[in-house]
Amino acid sequence: MKPFNFVTGSVLPDLKNRLFLWSFLIMVSLICGAYFVGYSFTAKEYKQRLARWGLIYSMPDTKPSACERQCWPTGSEALPEGIVAKTSNLEMRPLWDSGIKSRISKRPSNLLAIAVGVKQKEIVNRIVEKFPSSDFVVMLFHYDGFLDGWKNLAWSNHAIHVSAINQTKWWFSKRFLHPDIVAGYNYIFLWDEDLLVDNFDPKRYLSIVKEEGLEISQPALDPGKSELHHPLTVRQTGSKVHRRYYKFKGSGRCDDHSTAPPCIGWVEMMAPVFSKKSWQCVWHLIQNDLIHSWGLDRQLGYCAQGDRMRNVGVVDSEYIVHLGLPTLGSSNGNEGLSNSSDRDSDRPKVRMQSYNEMKVFEKRWREAAKMDKCWIDPYQQQQQINQTSL
Ligand SMILES: *[C@@H]1O[C@H](CO)[C@@H](O)[C@H](O)[C@H]1NC(C)=O
Ligand SMILES: *[C@@H]1O[C@H](CO)[C@@H](O)[C@H](O)[C@H]1NC(C)=O
Ligand SMILES: *[C@@H]1O[C@H](CO)[C@@H](O)[C@H](O)[C@H]1NC(C)=O
Repeated sequence: MKPFNFVTGSVLPDLKNRLFLWSFLIMVSLICGAYFVGYSFTAKEYKQRLARWGLIYSMPDTKPSACERQCWPTGSEALPEGIVAKTSNLEMRPLWDSGIKSRISKRPSNLLAIAVGVKQKEIVNRIVEKFPSSDFVVMLFHYDGFLDGWKNLAWSNHAIHVSAINQTKWWFSKRFLHPDIVAGYNYIFLWDEDLLVDNFDPKRYLSIVKEEGLEISQPALDPGKSELHHPLTVRQTGSKVHRRYYKFKGSGRCDDHSTAPPCIGWVEMMAPVFSKKSWQCVWHLIQNDLIHSWGLDRQLGYCAQGDRMRNVGVVDSEYIVHLGLPTLGSSNGNEGLSNSSDRDSDRPKVRMQSYNEMKVFEKRWREAAKMDKCWIDPYQQQQQINQTSL
């Protein structure tokens, strides 16, 4: 077969024609480039306009192709594909095959991770005992370094223990719950240590969460016994699940028209439960240096895998008590350190730090949203609706 050689072939043999052809090609590519840029601009504009009119509602799933993120090289390119193990898990392996493995029919498909200090051992024991080991891997983040204190608990040898002094739940989860490590778990419970679970059953909870399509959720807080920080998470008696709350008086009203946090579309940070997909997103949202993660909760809706008004919610029928202990393992807004003799001097400092981190986080978000020309805020139109109705 004779190849058709357009540039160097015999069609345009002389130099002058070749130069002409090159400038022609360059011009065509310039025009293409301009068209491409124009297209991506108008596509975004068009989409935003549609969003404003309320014609498109869900997360933007198609972006102009100029905005497609590059596939980063992962380091595995030098290996044959079939040998590449991209993800891992927290399964403990026997040193040799004793035949036990083959008798275990099922691997746990969910994960319970708690930041703990030995002082809360009894409470944590009661939490872990509620979570059947056939369904849950247990991971403890020890912030006080007292690992030995846990040894006598029946489940302790089967749990993963991670120790780092004076670190928070968010510090640990950023370092040890990378999405590639926990890819095998369908739901991740990232809990504080100061929760009572007398009225909570994890399996019933998960069946409700699946039925309701909640990607990010938490059990409701028993108002009689809990330290409460926000009305959204208070248990509504007789209800199975709620996603919004109402406030008809004072500033910051919440009604049926509310479309954004704090009225709807978020949960608090003491007992969140993430689906695998939402965790993949939330892990990226956690900042390495902002270890108290204040402000993160309000942005969780961006990780809800769709409309946060539908996919984020509070389960009322399986509920907990939030003790609000001033420990490092609780995100209760009064975070301090577990040693009560240190508490008085350190708590105000931790609180101040948390507050400052929230300001930094909010600023970072605003700047990131402004700088990323390819990112479209799926909730922008909801804010606009809100502003116009004021
Ligand atoms: C951890 O925090 C406590 C209480 O503030 C403090 O006394 C102790 O020195 C800290 N430990 C380390 C290793 O930073
Ligand atoms: C808009 O926001 C204000 C204040 O945040 C709130 O009181 C109001 O209920 C919201 N309105 C709608 C329609 O969401
Ligand atoms: C708490 O603080 C006291 C006095 O500073 C100290 O003796 C004790 O060992 C500390 N306990 C823990 C668990 O850190």
